[in-house]
Amino acid sequence: MLTTQKALEEINRLTDLLLRASEAYYNSGEVLMEDEEFDLMLGQLASLESQFPELARPDSPNKNVGTPTKSDFKKSKHQTPMLSLENLSTPEELAQWGEQVEKKLDGLVPLFCCEAKLDGLSMSVIFEKGRLVRAVTRGNGEVGDEVTENVKTIKSLPHQLKEPLDLELRGEVVMSWAEFEKNRAQFPDQVIKNPRNFAAGSLRLKDPALVKKRGLDILLYDLVTPGFKEEHQANLILLEGLDLPVNPFRELCHNLDEVLAFCQKTEALRDQMAFKIDGVVIKINHLEQRARLGRTQKSPVWARAWKFRPQRKLTRLLGIENSLGRTGVLTPVALVEPVDIDGTEVRRASLHNYKEVVDRLHLHEKDWVFLEKGGDIIPKVVSIDLTQRLPDAQAYAKPQACPSCQGPLTHAQKSGSKPKEDGTIEYEIDQRCTNARCPAQLLAKIEHFVSKKAMDVSSLGAKMVELLMQKGFVAQIDDLFRLKAHRAELEAIKGLGDISVAKFLNALETAKTQPLDRLIIGLGINNVGERAAKTLALFCKDLNHFKGLSLAELESIPEFGPVMVQSVLDWTKAPENQDLLLRLTNLGVNPEPLARPQNQPFKGKSVCITGTLSKKRSDWKFQLEQLGFKTVEAVSAKTDYLLAGEEAGSKLKKAQQLNIPILSEKDMNELIESGPTL
Ligand code: IVH
Repeated sequence: MLTTQKALEEINRLTDLLLRASEAYYNSGEVLMEDEEFDLMLGQLASLESQFPELARPDSPNKNVGTPTKSDFKKSKHQTPMLSLENLSTPEELAQWGEQVEKKLDGLVPLFCCEAKLDGLSMSVIFEKGRLVRAVTRGNGEVGDEVTENVKTIKSLPHQLKEPLDLELRGEVVMSWAEFEKNRAQFPDQVIKNPRNFAAGSLRLKDPALVKKRGLDILLYDLVTPGFKEEHQANLILLEGLDLPVNPFRELCHNLDEVLAFCQKTEALRDQMAFKIDGVVIKINHLEQRARLGRTQKSPVWARAWKFRPQRKLTRLLGIENSLGRTGVLTPVALVEPVDIDGTEVRRASLHNYKEVVDRLHLHEKDWVFLEKGGDIIPKVVSIDLTQRLPDAQAYAKPQACPSCQGPLTHAQKSGSKPKEDGTIEYEIDQRCTNARCPAQLLAKIEHFVSKKAMDVSSLGAKMVELLMQKGFVAQIDDLFRLKAHRAELEAIKGLGDISVAKFLNALETAKTQPLDRLIIGLGINNVGERAAKTLALFCKDLNHFKGLSLAELESIPEFGPVMVQSVLDWTKAPENQDLLLRLTNLGVNPEPLARPQNQPFKGKSVCITGTLSKKRSDWKFQLEQLGFKTVEAVSAKTDYLLAGEEAGSKLKKAQQLNIPILSEKDMNELIESGPTL
């Protein structure tokens, strides 16, 4: 029986964790916990709360109906897939696309409808006989979540049209800057990153009354249902006539000069817009022309997204934090005075390495630095405002010692590189600590081993691993599997408690039989990511086979180039790694081999290969067949994809006529990476 004190601690711990996870999930769309884990914890908390009702907190997620639960929304298949757009960001790229369009239109003259690209969430909105019946998120492009009741809270969107029409519309759910600021003021303690993330979180709330308070909006940009007007712009005007909220930031352009001018004008106005925008969508206006242009796997040929240049902001450098990853690479990170870039508060910025800090930027203490944010990645320091440098400021120098173990830092030889003709050797720019016992590296290695994409022991987060290392229970990966011998001592550690100990010990037991590719990822071999690990796990019968892989075997794997072969060989040959694998086996780690049929994600899909490709056609054929594709010699209506290289001829034409997705090698690699979503 738990003591009251212990129960109180555990109730507080679980309540905090659950609230944090659900806040993150619903506010920023961040997944801190998997659904099963969330539900399990919720159940544990409920059971404690029923044993000790007086200890249940008023904000318990079990009590509070306002707290969203993680149960999923109903899934709905899109009749027409929701594609994404290919980006352009220079006049040259725009001209190239223009040429491609011109060639394919064979004499027809295009008009371009240019529209502000709203930074929100794409939504499919369906009216039947004039009544709003469904609103579905993009999801994976093929199947999305039904969030109808939440979308119905949007004031500008009528639930009933003036005419009994069947319409599928597409648009962007957005939050205006004004509503965003209101929400920020209302929840001062919460991290509300930007309008897009907040809108995403709001759409996932289970209680539409709460969604309503958030003040979402929608701007429609497409009528998907065929049979109305012949031109996109005319369709949008038709929708406006039905009092639907249509994206008003748009203009018809007659040529690419006008398109470019619209893009530049819109970029100049971006800070004055009511909504956050991140570019311009350029669309061919005539629907018949669109049909001629067709699509590739992921995106239509008839549209492109013009991306704005990343925003730049000036701020003060407060210091440099040196962090060490699992491979021992030292990464400097700039700590800066908080600054808002594009609606996100930025406190840290990437500096990449000390060559950048010392040679390129010549960074001094307290410098004023320009930060730039591109995409969703961490912003980087791009330049310095020298006019504001303090006269006596000290320049930063390359550290000589590892910040964690104080050992020497070296520049490793470039992986897979051979001495050049003049005998010189290429070294990496990165500085590395090569001490195999360096605490920061070991911590990062173990965190990686248990991480979601590796052994997936989600109950052992970064904090917990750090604690276990500090207390001396874990020094290397294999120590994790010795923890169960220390159950009582672990339970006595402040901040752990028997429930969490039981949880991670159980999870570690289960992890022993995780599939082989997960173990390989967890080992952290240079250059071996998820895809290479899968290939290796498919190739190897078991862990023993992996341990003894020969050069010839590795070279026989079609996808593996020399760098990959060398990385794997370097790792498996090292005596300390052989020892580690032996110790893991002795501790009962016995990964499941990967069953090939389960790993044929493209089973049932057919592909035809044509044109000149960068590797042998037989290599592509082998690789695609490994993934379950059936390769066919001719294109027919049943063919799912055409992989087209340079100078493709009649097969390409046929695929265009049949509206079959045409994939370049790059597209195909992306498709393999993301799986068969469409
Ligand atoms: S048209 C085939 N028009 O941008 C896709 N998209 O990067 C046709 N977006 O998923 C999309 N504003 O969510 C279109 N005026 C606009 C848009 C817009 C924002 C989003 C949309 C899409 C994403 C593509």
